[in-house]
Amino acid sequence: MNILGINSVYHDSAAALLVDGRLVVAIEEERFNRIKHGKSSHIDNPHQFPERAIRFCLKYAGLSAGDIDHVAYSFDPQLRRKRYRPEWWFDPRFEEVFLLRLGQVRGVADELLGRQLGQRFHFVPHHLAHAASAYYPSGFDHAAILVIDGIGEAAGSTLWKAVGTKIQPVETFDYPHSLGFVWETICGHLGFSTYDASKLMGLAAYGNPEVFRPAFQQIIHVGKQDYAVDPEAIGFQSAKVSRLETLLGPPRYMEMELLPRHADIAAALQVSTNEAVTALVRRLKRKVPSDNLCFAGGVALNCVTNDLVRQSGEFSELFIPSAPHDAGTAIGAAFAVHCAKQKRSPEPGSSTPYLGPKFNRREILAAVKSAGLRPRRSKSPARDAADMIADGKIVAWFQGRMEFGPRALGNRSLLADPRSPDMRNILNRMVKHREDFRPFAPSVLAEYADEWFEVGAHSTSHEFMLFACGVRPERRDRIPAVIHQDGTARVQLVSRKSNPRFHELISCFYAKTGVPLVINTSFNDSEPIVCTPTDAIVTFRKSGIDALFMDDICLTARN
Ligand SMILES: [Fe+2]
Repeated sequence: MNILGINSVYHDSAAALLVDGRLVVAIEEERFNRIKHGKSSHIDNPHQFPERAIRFCLKYAGLSAGDIDHVAYSFDPQLRRKRYRPEWWFDPRFEEVFLLRLGQVRGVADELLGRQLGQRFHFVPHHLAHAASAYYPSGFDHAAILVIDGIGEAAGSTLWKAVGTKIQPVETFDYPHSLGFVWETICGHLGFSTYDASKLMGLAAYGNPEVFRPAFQQIIHVGKQDYAVDPEAIGFQSAKVSRLETLLGPPRYMEMELLPRHADIAAALQVSTNEAVTALVRRLKRKVPSDNLCFAGGVALNCVTNDLVRQSGEFSELFIPSAPHDAGTAIGAAFAVHCAKQKRSPEPGSSTPYLGPKFNRREILAAVKSAGLRPRRSKSPARDAADMIADGKIVAWFQGRMEFGPRALGNRSLLADPRSPDMRNILNRMVKHREDFRPFAPSVLAEYADEWFEVGAHSTSHEFMLFACGVRPERRDRIPAVIHQDGTARVQLVSRKSNPRFHELISCFYAKTGVPLVINTSFNDSEPIVCTPTDAIVTFRKSGIDALFMDDICLTARN
Protein backbone atom coordinates (compact mmCIF):
# COMPACT_ATOMS: atom_id res chain seq x y z
CA MET A 1 0.00 0.00 0.00
CA ASN A 2 1.44 3.38 -1.06
CA ILE A 3 0.44 6.40 1.02
CA LEU A 4 1.42 9.94 0.10
CA GLY A 5 1.53 12.44 2.99
CA ILE A 6 1.24 16.16 2.26
CA ASN A 7 1.68 19.29 4.35
CA SER A 8 0.78 22.62 2.78
CA VAL A 9 -1.79 24.21 5.06
CA TYR A 10 0.45 26.93 6.52
CA HIS A 11 4.19 26.73 5.85
CA ASP A 12 7.07 24.26 5.58
CA SER A 13 5.30 22.47 2.72
CA ALA A 14 6.51 18.92 2.39
CA ALA A 15 5.69 15.48 1.02
CA ALA A 16 6.42 11.98 2.31
CA LEU A 17 5.79 8.50 0.98
CA LEU A 18 5.06 5.27 2.84
CA VAL A 19 5.35 2.02 0.92
CA ASP A 20 3.80 -0.90 2.81
CA GLY A 21 4.30 0.91 6.10
CA ARG A 22 7.91 1.81 5.40
CA LEU A 23 8.91 5.48 5.23
CA VAL A 24 10.79 5.57 1.93
CA VAL A 25 11.26 9.26 1.21
CA ALA A 26 10.38 12.69 2.60
CA ILE A 27 11.36 16.15 1.44
CA GLU A 28 10.52 19.79 2.00
CA GLU A 29 9.42 21.83 -1.00
CA GLU A 30 11.84 24.66 -0.09
CA ARG A 31 14.78 22.48 -1.13
CA PHE A 32 13.44 22.44 -4.70
CA ASN A 33 11.83 25.86 -5.13
CA ARG A 34 14.60 27.58 -3.10
CA ILE A 35 12.02 29.63 -1.16
CA LYS A 36 12.50 29.35 2.59
CA HIS A 37 9.64 27.35 4.16
CA GLY A 38 8.33 26.51 0.66
CA LYS A 39 5.73 29.26 0.80
CA SER A 40 4.61 31.84 3.29
CA SER A 41 1.67 31.13 5.50
CA HIS A 42 -1.43 32.85 4.08
CA ILE A 43 -5.12 32.22 4.46
CA ASP A 44 -5.49 31.90 0.70
CA ASN A 45 -2.81 29.32 -0.13
CA PRO A 46 -3.36 26.01 1.72
CA HIS A 47 -4.23 24.49 -1.68
CA GLN A 48 -0.73 25.27 -3.04
CA PHE A 49 0.72 21.79 -2.92
CA PRO A 50 4.43 20.97 -2.69
CA GLU A 51 4.24 19.67 -6.26
CA ARG A 52 7.95 19.22 -6.82
CA ALA A 53 8.36 17.41 -3.52
CA ILE A 54 5.44 15.12 -4.44
CA ARG A 55 6.88 14.39 -7.89
CA PHE A 56 10.24 13.64 -6.35
CA CYS A 57 8.72 11.19 -3.83
CA LEU A 58 7.06 9.27 -6.67
CA LYS A 59 10.20 9.26 -8.79
CA TYR A 60 12.41 8.15 -5.91
CA ALA A 61 10.14 5.20 -5.15
CA GLY A 62 9.75 4.34 -8.85
CA LEU A 63 6.00 4.86 -8.69
CA SER A 64 3.56 6.65 -10.94
CA ALA A 65 0.61 8.74 -9.80
CA GLY A 66 -1.70 5.78 -10.42
CA ASP A 67 0.20 3.69 -7.86
CA ILE A 68 -0.76 5.94 -4.95
CA ASP A 69 -3.44 4.20 -2.89
CA HIS A 70 -4.11 6.94 -0.35
CA VAL A 71 -3.35 10.62 0.10
CA ALA A 72 -3.14 12.11 3.62
CA TYR A 73 -3.33 15.90 4.10
CA SER A 74 -2.26 17.21 7.52
CA PHE A 75 -5.23 19.46 8.29
CA ASP A 76 -8.92 18.78 8.78
CA PRO A 77 -11.29 21.52 7.51
CA GLN A 78 -14.29 19.92 9.23
CA LEU A 79 -12.57 20.05 12.59
CA ARG A 80 -11.68 23.66 11.86
CA ARG A 81 -15.34 24.48 11.19
CA LYS A 82 -16.37 22.82 14.42
CA ARG A 83 -13.82 24.54 16.66
CA TYR A 84 -13.55 27.94 14.98
CA ARG A 85 -14.60 30.96 17.05
CA PRO A 86 -15.63 34.21 15.28
CA GLU A 87 -13.52 36.31 17.66
CA TRP A 88 -10.31 34.87 16.14
CA TRP A 89 -10.42 37.19 13.15
CA PHE A 90 -10.93 40.90 12.96
CA ASP A 91 -12.78 40.32 9.68
CA PRO A 92 -14.94 37.14 9.32
CA ARG A 93 -14.20 37.06 5.57
CA PHE A 94 -10.67 35.82 6.39
CA GLU A 95 -12.11 32.53 7.62
CA GLU A 96 -14.35 32.25 4.55
CA VAL A 97 -11.34 32.62 2.27
CA PHE A 98 -9.35 30.05 4.26
CA LEU A 99 -12.18 27.51 4.08
CA LEU A 100 -12.77 28.18 0.38
CA ARG A 101 -9.13 27.43 -0.37
CA LEU A 102 -9.24 24.32 1.81
CA GLY A 103 -12.29 23.28 -0.18
CA GLN A 104 -10.07 23.16 -3.26
CA VAL A 105 -7.53 20.79 -1.72
CA ARG A 106 -9.23 17.53 -2.76
CA GLY A 107 -9.56 18.78 -6.33
CA VAL A 108 -5.90 19.75 -6.49
CA ALA A 109 -4.93 16.25 -5.31
CA ASP A 110 -7.23 14.66 -7.93
CA GLU A 111 -5.76 16.82 -10.64
CA LEU A 112 -2.19 16.09 -9.61
CA LEU A 113 -2.70 12.34 -9.47
CA GLY A 114 -4.93 12.27 -12.55
CA ARG A 115 -7.94 10.57 -11.01
CA GLN A 116 -10.80 10.98 -8.54
CA LEU A 117 -9.42 9.89 -5.18
CA GLY A 118 -12.79 9.95 -3.40
CA GLN A 119 -12.52 7.93 -0.16
CA ARG A 120 -8.81 7.53 -0.74
CA PHE A 121 -8.20 11.17 0.17
CA HIS A 122 -7.95 11.79 3.92
CA PHE A 123 -7.91 14.97 5.98
CA VAL A 124 -5.87 14.22 9.12
CA PRO A 125 -6.18 16.59 12.12
CA HIS A 126 -3.04 18.72 12.23
CA HIS A 127 -1.96 17.90 15.78
CA LEU A 128 -2.69 14.20 15.25
CA ALA A 129 -0.29 14.36 12.30
CA HIS A 130 2.34 16.02 14.55
CA ALA A 131 1.73 13.39 17.25
CA ALA A 132 2.03 10.54 14.72
CA SER A 133 5.25 12.03 13.29
CA ALA A 134 6.85 11.64 16.72
CA TYR A 135 5.26 8.42 18.01
CA TYR A 136 5.55 5.97 15.11
CA PRO A 137 9.25 6.60 14.39
CA SER A 138 10.07 6.61 18.14
CA GLY A 139 10.24 2.84 18.42
CA PHE A 140 8.06 2.98 21.59
CA ASP A 141 5.07 0.63 21.82
CA HIS A 142 3.30 3.05 24.16
CA ALA A 143 3.92 6.69 25.06
CA ALA A 144 2.58 10.02 26.21
CA ILE A 145 2.71 12.59 23.41
CA LEU A 146 2.92 16.37 23.67
CA VAL A 147 2.31 18.64 20.66
CA ILE A 148 2.92 22.39 20.88
CA ASP A 149 2.91 24.75 17.88
CA GLY A 150 1.24 27.95 16.64
CA ILE A 151 -2.14 26.53 15.75
CA GLY A 152 -3.58 23.35 14.28
CA GLU A 153 -7.26 23.62 13.37
CA ALA A 154 -7.82 25.36 16.73
CA ALA A 155 -5.32 23.82 19.13
CA GLY A 156 -2.13 25.46 20.32
CA SER A 157 -1.15 22.48 22.49
CA THR A 158 -2.47 18.92 22.69
CA LEU A 159 -1.82 15.98 24.99
CA TRP A 160 -2.11 12.43 23.65
CA LYS A 161 -1.87 8.83 24.76
CA ALA A 162 -0.54 6.14 22.45
CA VAL A 163 -0.77 2.39 22.91
CA GLY A 164 0.21 0.04 20.09
CA THR A 165 -1.02 1.55 16.84
CA LYS A 166 -3.65 3.78 18.49
CA ILE A 167 -3.15 7.44 19.33
CA GLN A 168 -5.94 8.98 21.39
CA PRO A 169 -6.51 12.60 22.42
CA VAL A 170 -6.24 13.38 26.13
CA GLU A 171 -6.59 17.15 26.28
CA THR A 172 -6.52 20.22 24.09
CA PHE A 173 -5.53 23.85 24.73
CA ASP A 174 -7.22 25.84 21.96
CA TYR A 175 -6.41 29.31 20.60
CA PRO A 176 -5.47 31.76 22.12
CA HIS A 177 -3.37 29.42 24.27
CA SER A 178 -0.63 29.17 21.71
CA LEU A 179 3.04 29.34 22.70
CA GLY A 180 4.01 29.28 19.02
CA PHE A 181 2.00 32.45 18.42
CA VAL A 182 3.63 34.16 21.41
CA TRP A 183 7.03 33.47 19.83
CA GLU A 184 5.85 34.76 16.43
CA THR A 185 4.43 37.88 18.06
CA ILE A 186 7.57 38.64 20.06
CA CYS A 187 9.67 38.03 16.93
CA GLY A 188 7.65 40.81 15.27
CA HIS A 189 7.95 43.11 18.29
CA LEU A 190 11.74 42.74 18.22
CA GLY A 191 12.01 43.47 14.49
CA PHE A 192 12.49 39.90 13.25
CA SER A 193 10.34 37.87 10.87
CA THR A 194 7.78 35.46 12.28
CA TYR A 195 10.14 32.61 11.30
CA ASP A 196 13.03 33.90 13.40
CA ALA A 197 12.32 32.03 16.64
CA SER A 198 15.82 30.51 16.51
CA LYS A 199 17.32 34.02 16.49
CA LEU A 200 15.38 34.90 19.64
CA MET A 201 16.56 31.66 21.20
CA GLY A 202 20.17 32.69 20.54
CA LEU A 203 19.59 36.26 21.74
CA ALA A 204 17.97 35.06 24.98
CA ALA A 205 21.32 33.85 26.36
CA TYR A 206 22.56 37.48 26.44
CA GLY A 207 19.63 38.83 28.45
CA ASN A 208 18.49 38.98 32.05
CA PRO A 209 15.15 37.11 32.28
CA GLU A 210 14.16 38.89 35.49
CA VAL A 211 13.76 42.34 33.90
CA PHE A 212 10.62 41.42 31.92
CA ARG A 213 9.54 38.49 34.05
CA PRO A 214 6.49 40.32 35.52
CA ALA A 215 5.47 41.43 32.01
CA PHE A 216 5.68 37.90 30.65
CA GLN A 217 3.69 36.55 33.58
CA GLN A 218 0.85 38.62 32.14
CA ILE A 219 1.38 37.27 28.61
CA ILE A 220 1.80 33.60 29.56
CA HIS A 221 0.20 32.70 32.89
CA VAL A 222 1.83 29.47 34.05
CA GLY A 223 0.22 27.29 36.70
CA LYS A 224 1.66 24.15 38.26
CA GLN A 225 0.28 21.96 35.51
CA ASP A 226 -1.10 24.29 32.86
CA TYR A 227 -0.69 27.62 31.14
CA ALA A 228 -2.86 30.30 29.53
CA VAL A 229 -2.01 32.99 26.98
CA ASP A 230 -3.41 36.52 27.12
CA PRO A 231 -5.48 36.84 23.91
CA GLU A 232 -4.74 40.55 23.64
CA ALA A 233 -1.00 39.93 23.43
CA ILE A 234 -1.28 37.77 20.30
CA GLY A 235 -4.62 38.88 18.83
CA PHE A 236 -5.63 41.57 16.36
CA GLN A 237 -2.87 43.83 15.22
CA SER A 238 -3.92 47.04 16.98
CA ALA A 239 -4.75 45.39 20.32
CA LYS A 240 -1.56 43.37 20.18
CA VAL A 241 0.70 46.33 19.44
CA SER A 242 -0.66 48.46 22.26
CA ARG A 243 -0.68 45.56 24.73
CA LEU A 244 2.95 44.68 23.95
CA GLU A 245 4.04 48.30 24.05
CA THR A 246 2.50 48.67 27.50
CA LEU A 247 4.21 45.53 28.78
CA LEU A 248 7.50 45.50 26.90
CA GLY A 249 8.12 49.03 25.67
CA PRO A 250 8.33 50.29 22.09
CA PRO A 251 8.88 47.80 19.26
CA ARG A 252 12.21 47.50 17.49
CA TYR A 253 12.21 47.88 13.72
CA MET A 254 14.30 45.71 11.46
CA GLU A 255 17.37 47.86 10.93
CA MET A 256 17.45 49.34 14.43
CA GLU A 257 20.27 48.49 16.81
CA LEU A 258 19.72 45.53 19.13
CA LEU A 259 19.78 46.80 22.72
CA PRO A 260 20.29 44.91 25.98
CA ARG A 261 16.58 45.47 26.61
CA HIS A 262 15.74 43.34 23.56
CA ALA A 263 17.89 40.49 24.85
CA ASP A 264 16.14 40.80 28.22
CA ILE A 265 12.76 40.38 26.46
CA ALA A 266 14.02 37.29 24.61
CA ALA A 267 15.40 35.87 27.88
CA ALA A 268 12.08 36.35 29.67
CA LEU A 269 10.23 34.72 26.75
CA GLN A 270 12.56 31.71 26.90
CA VAL A 271 12.10 31.31 30.64
CA SER A 272 8.29 31.63 30.38
CA THR A 273 8.30 29.01 27.62
CA ASN A 274 10.44 26.68 29.71
CA GLU A 275 7.99 27.03 32.59
CA ALA A 276 4.87 26.55 30.45
CA VAL A 277 6.22 23.47 28.65
CA THR A 278 7.53 21.94 31.87
CA ALA A 279 4.08 22.46 33.43
CA LEU A 280 2.45 20.68 30.49
CA VAL A 281 4.93 17.82 30.74
CA ARG A 282 4.01 17.42 34.44
CA ARG A 283 0.31 17.48 33.55
CA LEU A 284 0.81 14.88 30.83
CA LYS A 285 2.74 12.58 33.18
CA ARG A 286 -0.16 12.73 35.64
CA LYS A 287 -2.68 11.89 32.91
CA VAL A 288 -0.57 9.36 31.00
CA PRO A 289 1.84 7.70 33.44
CA SER A 290 4.20 6.22 30.87
CA ASP A 291 8.02 6.22 30.87
CA ASN A 292 8.07 7.41 27.28
CA LEU A 293 7.44 10.93 26.03
CA CYS A 294 7.18 11.97 22.37
CA PHE A 295 7.30 15.70 21.64
CA ALA A 296 6.47 17.48 18.36
CA GLY A 297 5.19 20.79 16.93
CA GLY A 298 7.29 23.83 16.06
CA VAL A 299 7.98 24.59 19.74
CA ALA A 300 9.84 21.24 19.94
CA LEU A 301 12.62 22.94 17.92
CA ASN A 302 13.45 24.94 21.05
CA CYS A 303 16.66 23.18 22.11
CA VAL A 304 16.86 25.01 25.46
CA THR A 305 13.37 23.93 26.51
CA ASN A 306 13.96 20.43 25.14
CA ASP A 307 16.98 19.93 27.33
CA LEU A 308 15.02 21.06 30.39
CA VAL A 309 12.26 18.58 29.54
CA ARG A 310 14.93 15.89 29.22
CA GLN A 311 16.50 16.87 32.54
CA SER A 312 13.17 17.14 34.36
CA GLY A 313 13.13 13.34 34.57
CA GLU A 314 9.32 13.22 34.41
CA PHE A 315 9.72 10.71 31.59
CA SER A 316 12.83 8.55 31.40
CA GLU A 317 12.70 8.31 27.60
CA LEU A 318 12.18 11.24 25.23
CA PHE A 319 11.85 11.18 21.45
CA ILE A 320 11.65 14.26 19.24
CA PRO A 321 11.75 13.67 15.46
CA SER A 322 14.26 15.43 13.18
CA ALA A 323 11.36 17.48 11.75
CA PRO A 324 9.04 18.31 14.68
CA HIS A 325 7.78 21.40 12.81
CA ASP A 326 5.03 21.43 10.17
CA ALA A 327 7.09 19.65 7.49
CA GLY A 328 7.00 16.57 9.72
CA THR A 329 3.20 16.44 9.53
CA ALA A 330 3.52 15.09 5.97
CA ILE A 331 5.10 11.98 7.51
CA GLY A 332 2.70 11.92 10.46
CA ALA A 333 -0.43 12.20 8.31
CA ALA A 334 0.74 9.27 6.17
CA PHE A 335 1.47 7.19 9.29
CA ALA A 336 -1.95 8.00 10.75
CA VAL A 337 -3.70 6.79 7.58
CA HIS A 338 -1.50 3.68 7.44
CA CYS A 339 -2.47 2.70 10.99
CA ALA A 340 -6.15 3.44 10.41
CA LYS A 341 -6.20 1.29 7.27
CA GLN A 342 -3.76 -1.49 8.13
CA LYS A 343 -4.33 -1.77 11.91
CA ARG A 344 -0.66 -2.57 12.34
CA SER A 345 2.43 -0.57 13.20
CA PRO A 346 4.55 0.95 10.47
CA GLU A 347 7.85 -0.75 9.71
CA PRO A 348 10.57 0.14 12.26
CA GLY A 349 13.56 2.29 11.41
CA SER A 350 11.72 5.41 10.28
CA SER A 351 13.51 7.80 12.65
CA THR A 352 16.35 8.54 10.23
CA PRO A 353 16.59 12.15 9.04
CA TYR A 354 18.35 11.06 5.82
CA LEU A 355 15.21 10.79 3.70
CA GLY A 356 15.88 13.09 0.73
CA PRO A 357 17.59 12.84 -2.65
CA LYS A 358 21.08 11.49 -3.19
CA PHE A 359 23.23 11.87 -6.27
CA ASN A 360 25.57 9.40 -7.90
CA ARG A 361 29.09 10.04 -9.16
CA ARG A 362 27.93 10.58 -12.74
CA GLU A 363 25.43 13.25 -11.68
CA ILE A 364 27.98 14.98 -9.48
CA LEU A 365 30.61 14.99 -12.25
CA ALA A 366 28.09 16.30 -14.78
CA ALA A 367 27.28 19.24 -12.49
CA VAL A 368 30.98 19.96 -11.93
CA LYS A 369 31.67 19.80 -15.66
CA SER A 370 28.78 22.07 -16.60
CA ALA A 371 30.10 24.60 -14.08
CA GLY A 372 33.41 24.56 -15.96
CA LEU A 373 35.34 23.32 -12.92
CA ARG A 374 38.12 20.76 -12.75
CA PRO A 375 37.38 18.07 -10.18
CA ARG A 376 40.00 16.31 -8.13
CA ARG A 377 39.41 12.83 -6.82
CA SER A 378 40.22 12.31 -3.17
CA LYS A 379 41.33 8.85 -2.11
CA SER A 380 40.34 9.63 1.46
CA PRO A 381 37.78 12.43 1.55
CA ALA A 382 37.26 12.08 5.31
CA ARG A 383 40.97 12.51 6.04
CA ASP A 384 41.52 15.25 3.48
CA ALA A 385 38.51 17.20 4.75
CA ALA A 386 39.58 16.76 8.39
CA ASP A 387 43.10 18.00 7.55
CA MET A 388 41.69 21.09 5.90
CA ILE A 389 39.36 21.79 8.84
CA ALA A 390 42.28 21.45 11.24
CA ASP A 391 44.13 23.98 9.04
CA GLY A 392 41.37 26.52 9.66
CA LYS A 393 39.56 26.02 6.34
CA ILE A 394 35.78 26.03 5.79
CA VAL A 395 34.77 22.72 4.23
CA ALA A 396 31.45 21.96 2.55
CA TRP A 397 30.50 18.30 3.04
CA PHE A 398 27.88 16.96 0.62
CA GLN A 399 27.14 13.25 0.64
CA GLY A 400 24.32 10.71 0.58
CA ARG A 401 20.64 11.49 1.14
CA MET A 402 19.66 15.02 2.14
CA GLU A 403 18.31 15.60 5.65
CA PHE A 404 14.58 16.03 6.34
CA GLY A 405 14.11 18.83 8.88
CA PRO A 406 15.71 22.20 9.47
CA ARG A 407 19.14 20.98 10.63
CA ALA A 408 22.01 19.82 8.43
CA LEU A 409 23.26 16.65 10.07
CA GLY A 410 26.39 15.82 8.13
CA ASN A 411 25.08 15.29 4.60
CA ARG A 412 24.62 18.92 3.53
CA SER A 413 26.88 20.63 6.09
CA LEU A 414 29.55 23.29 6.37
CA LEU A 415 32.29 22.16 8.72
CA ALA A 416 34.99 24.12 10.52
CA ASP A 417 37.41 24.02 13.44
CA PRO A 418 35.76 24.44 16.88
CA ARG A 419 39.13 25.31 18.49
CA SER A 420 39.45 28.62 16.73
CA PRO A 421 38.09 31.61 18.68
CA ASP A 422 37.70 33.53 15.40
CA MET A 423 35.85 30.82 13.50
CA ARG A 424 32.36 32.21 14.20
CA ASN A 425 33.34 35.54 12.67
CA ILE A 426 35.09 33.87 9.75
CA LEU A 427 32.07 31.68 8.98
CA ASN A 428 29.77 34.69 9.16
CA ARG A 429 32.01 36.85 7.03
CA MET A 430 32.77 34.21 4.38
CA VAL A 431 29.47 32.34 4.04
CA LYS A 432 26.65 32.52 6.53
CA HIS A 433 26.11 36.26 7.04
CA ARG A 434 24.20 35.65 10.23
CA GLU A 435 23.84 37.87 13.29
CA ASP A 436 26.88 37.76 15.59
CA PHE A 437 24.84 36.67 18.59
CA ARG A 438 23.80 33.37 17.02
CA PRO A 439 25.86 30.36 18.08
CA PHE A 440 27.30 27.63 15.86
CA ALA A 441 26.71 24.03 16.84
CA PRO A 442 29.11 21.10 17.23
CA SER A 443 28.88 17.54 15.87
CA VAL A 444 30.66 15.21 18.26
CA LEU A 445 31.59 11.54 18.11
CA ALA A 446 28.92 9.83 20.22
CA GLU A 447 31.51 7.74 22.06
CA TYR A 448 33.29 10.85 23.39
CA ALA A 449 30.29 13.13 23.84
CA ASP A 450 30.05 12.73 27.63
CA GLU A 451 33.66 13.76 28.14
CA TRP A 452 32.93 17.13 26.54
CA PHE A 453 29.22 17.85 27.07
CA GLU A 454 26.55 17.24 29.73
CA VAL A 455 24.49 15.11 27.38
CA GLY A 456 22.81 12.73 29.85
CA ALA A 457 21.55 9.37 28.64
CA HIS A 458 22.04 9.18 24.88
CA SER A 459 18.87 9.03 22.79
CA THR A 460 18.11 8.87 19.09
CA SER A 461 17.00 12.51 19.21
CA HIS A 462 20.52 13.54 20.27
CA GLU A 463 21.46 12.76 16.68
CA PHE A 464 19.14 15.53 15.43
CA MET A 465 20.79 18.52 17.17
CA LEU A 466 17.75 19.20 19.36
CA PHE A 467 19.25 19.75 22.82
CA ALA A 468 21.32 22.63 24.22
CA CYS A 469 23.68 20.80 26.58
CA GLY A 470 26.18 22.26 29.02
CA VAL A 471 29.84 22.19 27.92
CA ARG A 472 32.05 20.59 30.58
CA PRO A 473 33.90 23.49 32.28
CA GLU A 474 37.32 21.83 31.93
CA ARG A 475 36.83 21.61 28.15
CA ARG A 476 35.54 25.10 27.50
CA ASP A 477 38.79 26.75 26.54
CA ARG A 478 39.48 24.03 23.92
CA ILE A 479 36.36 24.66 21.82
CA PRO A 480 35.47 28.37 22.05
CA ALA A 481 33.78 28.49 18.62
CA VAL A 482 30.84 26.27 19.63
CA ILE A 483 30.08 27.60 23.11
CA HIS A 484 27.13 29.91 23.46
CA GLN A 485 26.96 32.86 25.85
CA ASP A 486 25.28 30.68 28.51
CA GLY A 487 27.94 27.93 28.37
CA THR A 488 25.83 25.51 26.32
CA ALA A 489 26.14 23.98 22.87
CA ARG A 490 23.44 22.56 20.59
CA VAL A 491 25.16 19.21 20.20
CA GLN A 492 24.65 16.59 17.48
CA LEU A 493 25.86 13.13 18.49
CA VAL A 494 27.30 11.24 15.53
CA SER A 495 27.51 7.47 15.68
CA ARG A 496 29.16 5.17 13.16
CA LYS A 497 25.80 3.51 12.63
CA SER A 498 23.78 6.66 11.92
CA ASN A 499 26.28 8.37 9.61
CA PRO A 500 29.46 6.35 8.94
CA ARG A 501 31.16 8.79 6.57
CA PHE A 502 30.59 11.81 8.81
CA HIS A 503 31.75 9.73 11.76
CA GLU A 504 34.92 8.87 9.85
CA LEU A 505 35.61 12.53 9.12
CA ILE A 506 35.26 13.58 12.78
CA SER A 507 37.39 10.56 13.80
CA CYS A 508 40.15 11.80 11.47
CA PHE A 509 39.86 15.29 12.99
CA TYR A 510 40.07 13.74 16.48
CA ALA A 511 43.16 11.69 15.54
CA LYS A 512 44.86 14.85 14.34
CA THR A 513 43.80 17.31 17.04
CA GLY A 514 42.60 15.38 20.09
CA VAL A 515 39.22 17.13 19.77
CA PRO A 516 36.36 14.75 18.81
CA LEU A 517 34.07 17.37 17.31
CA VAL A 518 33.72 19.87 14.47
CA ILE A 519 31.52 22.92 13.90
CA ASN A 520 28.53 21.85 11.81
CA THR A 521 26.30 24.49 10.26
CA SER A 522 23.88 24.05 7.40
CA PHE A 523 25.30 24.28 3.87
CA ASN A 524 23.58 27.46 2.69
CA ASP A 525 23.88 31.21 2.70
CA SER A 526 20.61 32.90 3.72
CA GLU A 527 18.63 30.42 1.58
CA PRO A 528 17.26 26.89 2.02
CA ILE A 529 19.88 24.17 2.58
CA VAL A 530 21.47 23.05 -0.70
CA CYS A 531 19.82 20.05 -2.33
CA THR A 532 21.56 19.19 -5.61
CA PRO A 533 25.23 19.20 -6.67
CA THR A 534 24.49 22.36 -8.69
CA ASP A 535 23.04 24.09 -5.60
CA ALA A 536 26.20 23.07 -3.75
CA ILE A 537 28.48 24.43 -6.48
CA VAL A 538 26.54 27.70 -6.70
CA THR A 539 26.86 28.32 -2.94
CA PHE A 540 30.51 27.24 -3.05
CA ARG A 541 31.30 29.63 -5.91
CA LYS A 542 29.55 32.66 -4.48
CA SER A 543 30.94 32.33 -0.95
CA GLY A 544 34.25 32.01 0.84
CA ILE A 545 34.06 28.24 1.31
CA ASP A 546 37.57 26.78 0.89
CA ALA A 547 36.68 23.29 -0.31
CA LEU A 548 33.64 21.35 -1.43
CA PHE A 549 33.58 17.57 -1.05
CA MET A 550 30.81 15.74 -2.92
CA ASP A 551 31.46 12.12 -2.07
CA ASP A 552 35.06 11.66 -3.25
CA ILE A 553 34.98 14.59 -5.67
CA CYS A 554 36.82 17.58 -4.26
CA LEU A 555 36.70 21.16 -5.46
CA THR A 556 38.89 23.78 -3.88
CA ALA A 557 38.75 27.54 -4.16
CA ARG A 558 41.67 27.29 -6.60
CA ASN A 559 39.70 25.20 -9.16
FE1 LIG B 1 1.97 22.69 13.29
